[in-house]
Amino acid sequence: MSGPRNLPTGGERAALVEEMFDRIAGRYELLNTVMTGGMHRLWNRRIIKAANIIPGDRVLDLACGTGSLTRDIAARVGESGSVLGVDFSREMLRGAGSRPRPNVEYRRGDATDLRFIEDEAFDAATIAYGARNIPNLDGLFAEMRRVVRPGGRVVCLEIATPENEVSKAFYGLWFDRVVPKIGARISGDAEAYTYLPKSVKEFVAADDLSGIIERNGLQDVTYRRLAGGIITLHRGVRGL
Ligand SMILES: C[S@@+](CC[C@H](N)C(=O)[O-])C[C@H]1O[C@@H](n2cnc3c(N)ncnc32)[C@H](O)[C@@H]1O
Repeated sequence: MSGPRNLPTGGERAALVEEMFDRIAGRYELLNTVMTGGMHRLWNRRIIKAANIIPGDRVLDLACGTGSLTRDIAARVGESGSVLGVDFSREMLRGAGSRPRPNVEYRRGDATDLRFIEDEAFDAATIAYGARNIPNLDGLFAEMRRVVRPGGRVVCLEIATPENEVSKAFYGLWFDRVVPKIGARISGDAEAYTYLPKSVKEFVAADDLSGIIERNGLQDVTYRRLAGGIITLHRGVRGL
């Protein structure tokens, strides 16, 4: 068994992540349901609430993957609203495109470089299970701030290492031992599902993430822990 190794950063990390999601795209939603016990739909609703998304809103969903959150946002904004999903994995986007919605568009792009989007184009921007794959968090949140209008909301949901002992024990068993095995079995890709616990362990602490969001110009930054602390939900607002 190999010892712990740090994940690469910069372009090397981006290439690793893009290739990995291209490989597992076909099984991603099934695995997500198995791994979260179906809870991800509930967490989608929490994101929508935290971002104060209402009918008619224009929303950007970054690292949208196969569009699980994107579709739930689309249902909330209704036909008078719209959602743009952005991801850099062609295969994840192919999965998203196979379940079209009239008020959703998808576009391939890097979440840290959204130059194809005008300033202040959205009422809210979301990212779910994406930030821990992105070493350049300043680039990510600077772009999220830029593309929401004054008063616009930015929300980030991420898997976290829990602090309380019971959740820690559950987490150690589930994400470190069970998920890599189930993931390898269902997706046929052992590497991808050992990457997951590694990427969570290397991700910044919740307070530090708040600091990063704040230093990129967002205000009233708060976060809450969900599911016994294995999920964190951060939100900030672009000042008026
Ligand atoms: C775990 S999936 C999350 C998908 C989706 N948000 C959901 O809720 O199911 C992470 C996604 O982030 C995408 N991703 C990672 N880094 C990215 C980046 N820098 N720019 C765009 N997409 C990125 C991957 O391609 C992958 O589809």
